[in-house]
Amino acid sequence: MEIRRISSEERLTHAFPLQAYAFEASPAPLEEAEKLREYLPFQEDNLTLVAEEGGTSLAAVSAVPMRQNVRGVLHPMAGVAGVAVHPLARRRGHVRTLLTRLLGDMRDDGHPVSALYPFRASFYERFGYVGLPKRRHVTFAPADLGHLVRADLPGELIWERSGSGYDAYRAFTLRLAAERHGFAVFPDYRAERLRADDARWIVTARVGGEVAAAAAYRLSGYGAELVVDDLLTTTPLSRALLLQFFARHVDQVERVVAGIAADELPELWATDLGTVTESRTRVPNANAPMARVLAVPALAGARVGPGRAVVEVVDDPFIAGTYLLDGRGGQLEVGGDEPGVPRATLNAAGFSALVYGVLDPDDLPLRGFGAVPADAGAQLRTLFPRAVPYLFADF
Ligand SMILES: CC(C)(COP(=O)(O)OP(=O)(O)OC[C@H]1O[C@@H](n2cnc3c(N)ncnc32)[C@H](O)[C@@H]1OP(=O)(O)O)[C@@H](O)C(=O)NCCC(=O)NCCS
Repeated sequence: MEIRRISSEERLTHAFPLQAYAFEASPAPLEEAEKLREYLPFQEDNLTLVAEEGGTSLAAVSAVPMRQNVRGVLHPMAGVAGVAVHPLARRRGHVRTLLTRLLGDMRDDGHPVSALYPFRASFYERFGYVGLPKRRHVTFAPADLGHLVRADLPGELIWERSGSGYDAYRAFTLRLAAERHGFAVFPDYRAERLRADDARWIVTARVGGEVAAAAAYRLSGYGAELVVDDLLTTTPLSRALLLQFFARHVDQVERVVAGIAADELPELWATDLGTVTESRTRVPNANAPMARVLAVPALAGARVGPGRAVVEVVDDPFIAGTYLLDGRGGQLEVGGDEPGVPRATLNAAGFSALVYGVLDPDDLPLRGFGAVPADAGAQLRTLFPRAVPYLFADF
């Protein structure tokens, strides 16, 4: 068995067929295969590794060179996707070998964090990933926002198709990536797909000439739904501007369904607004995302609280080691081992859980992620306060 990085053109023969079998309805008509060529530009610089035997590709894994905000710092991030194995070659360790190579290569190429959408969280937990919150969806009726229909709000709305609205939308998401914990964005060549597909409407709310909120959406039909991918807002005014826009669809759609961050509270957006907010997770195709740290020193500079602890990371090919983590200056400093400092022993998933802010130190022993004595737990709780990452990108 040989592991090899494939070229863009080779995706057609060495990766897409395995991925189509794993993730699509099949068998598809043969002419469908040629259409896949249209996707090549959107995967241009992805790192795709395959395991080959006698010239046949048995397994494929890919990493998209993305960027993600982790506690205030925008890092290169390896977005893992397209993990698929030939049906006759499963459970032979191919993905373990490929994924370990892939993450090592991405780490060496300067990506200190990685994220993915798992088919089964327990599979990727063994590779050091920990669960992040899933995007919620809120459903409400435009009729409940009647008070906004004629409200005079100081701002402006621009409405266009994603083919032409792409640049402003993309620029706004890049701004959010610089500001919001957990927010991840594609490289340009992949993000371009929103423009190329031209399959969304984009509405942006501008305040003082600057984009302050945006929504990419589609209409499912007359009297049906207005479906927003992600309701991206920065201020109460910018949110009110978008809600007003939806309110003006009162005679057109019955419901608005919008993706929102897990810490949004839509029941507080307006008086008498009826809302259903939900998030369902299901194996294999509706799971919450996961993330992990691939390099600890690169996290220096993160916005943290004033704790100080030594963490020994064990059982991991990428970040095993002993680190002094010091947040007393407000920004994370990473040093080597130091005696006399409260100390915890964690696996990569447990350490990643603290960095991303998704678990309390007391959760970690209960989840089998390590040992956290009370003094270390108190320091780590202050150092890495709970936070709600919003991954945004879907891959
Ligand atoms: C799921 C899949 C990717 C696993 O690949 P694979 O090459 O069979 O996996 P490996 O043999 O490398 O297994 C790696 C480890 O995970 C374990 N594992 C394998 N499949 C698992 C599963 N479904 N759930 C939990 N653990 C699993 C193995 O026991 C092994 O553990 P070990 O290394 O500690 O011994 C493959 O079976 C597949 O292509 N399935 C269909 C498509 C799919 O679901 N893709 C995932 C998209 S995110």
